[in-house]
Amino acid sequence: MTTRSAVLAGVGGWVPPRVVTNADLSAGLDTSDEWIRSRTGIVQRHLVDPGTSTSDLAVEAARRALDCAGTPAVDAVVVATMTPDRSCPATAPEVASRLGLTGVAAYDVGAVCTGFVYALATAAGLIATDLADRVLVIGADALSAVTNPADRTTAVVLADGAGAVVLRAGAPDEPGALGPFDLGSDGEGSDLIQVAAGGARQRLSGRPVDPAAHYFTMDGREVFRNAVLRMSASSRTVVRRAGWQLDEVDRIVSHQANIRILNALADDLDLARDRIVANIDRVGNTGAASIPLALADAAATGVLTPGDRVLLTAFGGGLTWGSTVLVWPQLPPTEHHEERAT
Ligand code: UT7
Repeated sequence: MTTRSAVLAGVGGWVPPRVVTNADLSAGLDTSDEWIRSRTGIVQRHLVDPGTSTSDLAVEAARRALDCAGTPAVDAVVVATMTPDRSCPATAPEVASRLGLTGVAAYDVGAVCTGFVYALATAAGLIATDLADRVLVIGADALSAVTNPADRTTAVVLADGAGAVVLRAGAPDEPGALGPFDLGSDGEGSDLIQVAAGGARQRLSGRPVDPAAHYFTMDGREVFRNAVLRMSASSRTVVRRAGWQLDEVDRIVSHQANIRILNALADDLDLARDRIVANIDRVGNTGAASIPLALADAAATGVLTPGDRVLLTAFGGGLTWGSTVLVWPQLPPTEHHEERAT
């Protein structure tokens, strides 16, 4: 029996054009460029203008990934997001149709900032079980839709963007083949990151809801501590399952939540910090988009080169975490999507 693996065939990213600097935020919030840079590593972020939604970001990133893969056709579209256009239906079918892919399987994955890694795992499953030969996996979030502009702890970190990859069926030992996965969750921490209202518990209809309950809230310190612990343990698990040694990892592409978390993760894994792929300075925390956006950025700028052993690891609300590995393949050039730091 031959094993079909999911192999990376294309990558693309997109951020909306509007750049918001730390100085812009400091004008309306009790914060400073110095605090934001030193505590988070963020220098600027991109935010959508009114009227632009998650599906718009997803379509732009997906077009670039499909171009890079050299194919307009896939058998399934998976969108990881915590900011779907509507709570019902899922965003993926509309994204698929706007890409000319009406008819394919299309569904959303909700695992907050871990969503892209969960979505990769489900896509790899579709390929392994012959349900699909090609899958488009998108991470997209318009986190500004749930950001309380008056909350300085979240408004300075959350941002908007999308990233996408095309996976194709291939052999487990070829470059680009996704390796083992490690996925996990701990619902005991479900209050640590949440948008309290709008679901079935605090409904939009009926009793009045506190307007603040529609916003993203986070216990930053507790989340920080958990993020390092969980991503470190999950990273060790997939590296071991892949048969690699930790010091053979060339690049760590982790969820971009805070440069201090990325540095702490590298330290915990005993890896040099220069192995971290970081674009948080330019794009902030883009939720489910952050890993594919970082991949697209690093591919376009040559930070990821063919043959690199790459570790992907994420942590987010739920709580959820997940990791996988791959050897970076030779990909056609991808259109560069980001403006540089101001
Ligand atoms: O994407 C999903 C996963 N998310 C994460 O992994 C995020 C994890 N958490 C974090 O990145 C950090 O906890 C934050 C960036 C959210 C906050 O940084 P922190 O270093 O943990 O700050 P803190 O919450 O411990 O607050 C330290 C101080 C407080 O003041 P006092 O009580 O010491 O006087 C805060 O009120 O910094 C204050 N503070 C700010 N000051 C200026 C909090 N936010 C700001 C701000 N500007 N924007």
